[in-house]
Amino acid sequence: MYSDLAEKDVIQVRTKFMKGNTIIDTSKLPKHIAIIMDGNGRWAKQKGKLRVFGHKNGVKAVRDTIEGAAEIGIKVVTLYAFSTENWNRPKHEVDVLMNLLVSSLKKELKLLQDNNIKLQAIGNLEKLPKKAQKELNEVITITKNNTHLILNLAISYSAKEEIVNAFKNISKKIVNNELSIKEIDENIINNHLYTRNLPNVDLVIRTSGEKRISNFLLWQIAYAEFYFTDLFWPDFRKKHLKEAIIDYQQRERRFGKTSDQLQNNE
Ligand code: IPE
Ligand code: IPE
Ligand code: MG
Repeated sequence: MYSDLAEKDVIQVRTKFMKGNTIIDTSKLPKHIAIIMDGNGRWAKQKGKLRVFGHKNGVKAVRDTIEGAAEIGIKVVTLYAFSTENWNRPKHEVDVLMNLLVSSLKKELKLLQDNNIKLQAIGNLEKLPKKAQKELNEVITITKNNTHLILNLAISYSAKEEIVNAFKNISKKIVNNELSIKEIDENIINNHLYTRNLPNVDLVIRTSGEKRISNFLLWQIAYAEFYFTDLFWPDFRKKHLKEAIIDYQQRERRFGKTSDQLQNNE
């Protein structure tokens, strides 16, 4: 009988959600949302256009999503903008992406300032063209005291490379007697990643129907929830971000415990 009732409750909750109950519970917001913005090329191809047309239109999706995240009250958003593997794409496409980065940073500075957003970047930034590095550093400096939302751009980013770097830096400290092997724990590792000042990821969103991680934040997503949508990135808007957050809020994050333990606050 008990399990019948529970099942009924579950069905009611689901029906409510499916009927379009789009209310976000602001007491249960994901602190850190990481987004794999995928599908620009296929979006353009579907329209009979070149891949770079998709990248240009992806910027609108970035703008709307960031604005939405700020409105909802999300604290950190990491956007996967360019992976180390993406350097292997045709030179023309890489050039367009780098130029887009520079022009968007220039254009979107007002959006960042108006919404009190602090820009940050992670990845092998030294590989970026000098102009992109300069623009990025300028916007990072200008927005450094903003407090409402951290926008963390993963550019020329590889999670494995990030972990390799952490190993190297930790090893250096051991060799120099600044750290002992006994002291190495999760905190020490966290503090040697590019994301050292950020909370762990609560929600990963990937667009375009692909269901893989593609070398993104491997350590930080250890207990993240995953949300996949078939939308191509240029079609993604703040309402889709809200849908993802509502979906996230229907989940029970057990962190290894049982459902009963969580309900009894154990
Ligand atoms: C995401 O879209 C943007 C980057 C990876 C830079 P893609 O360019 O990967 O588009 P698809 O996946 O080929 O459609
Ligand atoms: C992942 O997308 C990287 C970014 C979104 C920047 P890709 O399109 O490069 O990933 P794969 O190659 O399909 O795994
Ligand atoms: Mg892709």
